[in-house]
Amino acid sequence: MSILHVGLDERSYPITIQPGCLQSVASELAAGCSASRYGIISDDTVAGLYGRDLRESLERAGLSCDLLVFDHGEQHKHLGTVGALISQAARNGFDRKSMFIALGGGVVGDVAGFVAATYMRGVPFIQIPTSLLAQVDSSVGGKTGVDIPEGKNLVGAFYQPKAVYIDPEVLATLPKKEYINGMAEVIKHGIIRDEPYYRMLGERFEQIMALDPGVLKDVIEGSCRIKAAVVSADEQEYDLRRILNFGHTIGHAVEAASGFRIAHGFAVAIGMTAATRIGLGKGTAGEELLKDIKSMLKRYELPTEIPPDLDRALIKSYLLTDKKRVGSRTSYILPRRIGDVFITEEVSEAEIDAVIG
Ligand SMILES: NC(=O)c1ccc[n+]([C@@H]2O[C@H](COP(=O)([O-])OP(=O)(O)OC[C@H]3O[C@@H](n4cnc5c(N)ncnc54)[C@H](O)[C@@H]3O)[C@@H](O)[C@H]2O)c1
Ligand SMILES: [Zn+2]
Repeated sequence: MSILHVGLDERSYPITIQPGCLQSVASELAAGCSASRYGIISDDTVAGLYGRDLRESLERAGLSCDLLVFDHGEQHKHLGTVGALISQAARNGFDRKSMFIALGGGVVGDVAGFVAATYMRGVPFIQIPTSLLAQVDSSVGGKTGVDIPEGKNLVGAFYQPKAVYIDPEVLATLPKKEYINGMAEVIKHGIIRDEPYYRMLGERFEQIMALDPGVLKDVIEGSCRIKAAVVSADEQEYDLRRILNFGHTIGHAVEAASGFRIAHGFAVAIGMTAATRIGLGKGTAGEELLKDIKSMLKRYELPTEIPPDLDRALIKSYLLTDKKRVGSRTSYILPRRIGDVFITEEVSEAEIDAVIG
């Protein structure tokens, strides 16, 4: 078993990474804390696969428990879902001593975390992430929230869980495309902070794709360690935390310009390649680095180029909207070498044109 610590003073919490730990969460909760009632929040897919079993194991451990379910998919990550879950919790008698459990991918984690942050002005919650993306990225860092018609993640709160339990075995049921989507963030973590970790992703490619439980544990642990270190140093995204946005400036614009047809991780892979090319143009990155990053992404079946049919002007207009919203210049995270990136706002329109074509 591995236990990592996210150090945030009195809001610090442990991340347990252990194959099979979904089976032992109930007894740990029964032994360790005294919530009056537990609300497992999940989507319909994950509730069917793991939610009912988790509820039964909590009940067997003598804990009062409800399973609160909403329909899966990003299109349900909105305030209506939050309102429905909160009403259901109120009707079922959840009080300030209750605890919510987020069981699912990043959508569930973001929704359930926001419900926990706002229900009765905040009740404790724990995260049991079940997609690779949620295990290596969204469950660590305390960002919660939902989408509104005007944009993604525009409503939310920073709210830390009491604990995170990661069971790599649940990835066995995750569709391959979702797995690869999460691998983009895993590769990103290596590029921004940790060369040995990045090299391990190349060396253990076969085991990683075969979901070897021991290797998966190392992959997830390495990524959580990198994200936790960055988040502990900078919880609210003033500066250091922005390095986690490597590949995301152009990635978000590509994702939006495709009408979200291109999934997030795939768009980030394109964005990481584009950011590396900007560095190449500036002379801060070399050809070898670009070759290295492209071959890693391709190996994991991730794209590196903007699809030819995607409207370049639209991508640029999304880059500009991003800039307006932040009220400052768009920042870019550029790699110098594997394990080392820097933040700059000095990227001209001509440099953008050169890489998005
Ligand atoms: N809070 C953060 O810091 C943060 C960071 C990155 C992304 N996010 C958010 O995360 C969301 C994306 O997360 P995601 O990619 O996990 O999407 P998701 O939650 O929609 O999960 C993807 C799909 O996989 C299914 N699924 C999940 N676990 C499964 C399992 N073990 N077996 C079978 N099916 C399973 C889900 O039902 C869903 O259909 C976005 O809304 C994004 O904004 C948040
Ligand atoms: Zn991302």
